[in-house]
Amino acid sequence: MNPVYLDHNATTPLAPEVLACMMPILKENFGNPSSVHSRGRAARVQLDTAREQTAQLINGHPSEIVFTSGGTESDNLAVFGVAHALKDQGRHIITSAIEHPAVLNPCRQLEAEGFAVDYLPVDATGYLNPEAVREAMRSDTILISIQHSNSEMGRVQDIRQIAEEAKDRGILMHTDAVQSAGKLPLDVETMGIDLLSLSAHKLYGPKGAGALWIRRGTGALVPLVFGGGQEKKRRGGTENVAGIVGLGRAAELAAESLEEEAGRVRLVRDQFLEELKSRVPAVKVHGDPGKGLPNTLSFAVEGVSGQSLLVRLDVEGIAVSTGTACSSGVTQPSETLTALGISEDLIEGTLRMSLGRETTGENMEYVLEVFCGAVEAIRGRVAKI
Ligand SMILES: Cc1ncc(COP(=O)(O)O)c(C=O)c1O
Repeated sequence: MNPVYLDHNATTPLAPEVLACMMPILKENFGNPSSVHSRGRAARVQLDTAREQTAQLINGHPSEIVFTSGGTESDNLAVFGVAHALKDQGRHIITSAIEHPAVLNPCRQLEAEGFAVDYLPVDATGYLNPEAVREAMRSDTILISIQHSNSEMGRVQDIRQIAEEAKDRGILMHTDAVQSAGKLPLDVETMGIDLLSLSAHKLYGPKGAGALWIRRGTGALVPLVFGGGQEKKRRGGTENVAGIVGLGRAAELAAESLEEEAGRVRLVRDQFLEELKSRVPAVKVHGDPGKGLPNTLSFAVEGVSGQSLLVRLDVEGIAVSTGTACSSGVTQPSETLTALGISEDLIEGTLRMSLGRETTGENMEYVLEVFCGAVEAIRGRVAKI
């Protein structure tokens, strides 16, 4: 059996079409887009094309795209950029308790600088009630940053409704769409937001390239990186041309097959889940897969360690992730799953499977067999101790 990679929310393989358009830039077309000669101008044209392709994926305008080094930088630029630009108007920010650390940690840093931040709780499925956001709004609120979907259990938020309230109150609204881009249709106009983050390596593009979309008329953000005035002074430094071209092509490819692929992968995942529940009734599913990313499944089997399962699956060529994160050699339960009210024991037993373009129903039948065997083996071992 071929290896089965089920960790697409961590990163995706590079699409062959993406690699093909990056290679000539890495090999021959090495011009600096700021150079005036023909090599430089050729690189500039490549960036312009990538800007159009990236904007198109989210129905934005190319001039609204700022290329960055990835999702983390885009989130940092949105949060710090707005906070530092508007600090004289207000110092209150609203976010959720289940944001990615790329949003949570800038918010914590801003608290140290004297800003006030509300980390709103979510319900047991990971859903943030827009009403709670409305209630948290204050006269000094300058930014609301709520993720479009969650990387760990996939729950999608009601961004449109939150943005509507924000707009009524004149508050800027950012969404981290790093996990949704390429998996779900995204339209910045329909959503009514002001800023959106995305990352190339989550949509079959290269690592180290991403974008922050900033609605025209939003006003200048304070940059994170000062330099030679690139990206219209919004992000200094010579552009990562190959990475950006890869992002553009990846965005174009994703847009071509988005709805069919979302439907296909959802079906494969749901069939697997049905089978899984009938074979292992003790399975507890986190979030609400019907209202989440089509490719994501997070679940636990009580009394069976997620780490042990991961290792057994890995030996059989199956790559998944667990509900714990290792930081400085210490394993800690995920902040997101804790915020859903899931017990530490269940988090310990959590596995996340995130499917992708190359995942087939046949792959998942194999995964089911291996998984059921691993659960039985671990249970048998635990019973003997
Ligand atoms: C929701 C979300 N935001 C931001 C990031 C960070 O993106 P990058 O790895 O490109 O820095 C990730 C990566 O896992 C993510 O899942």
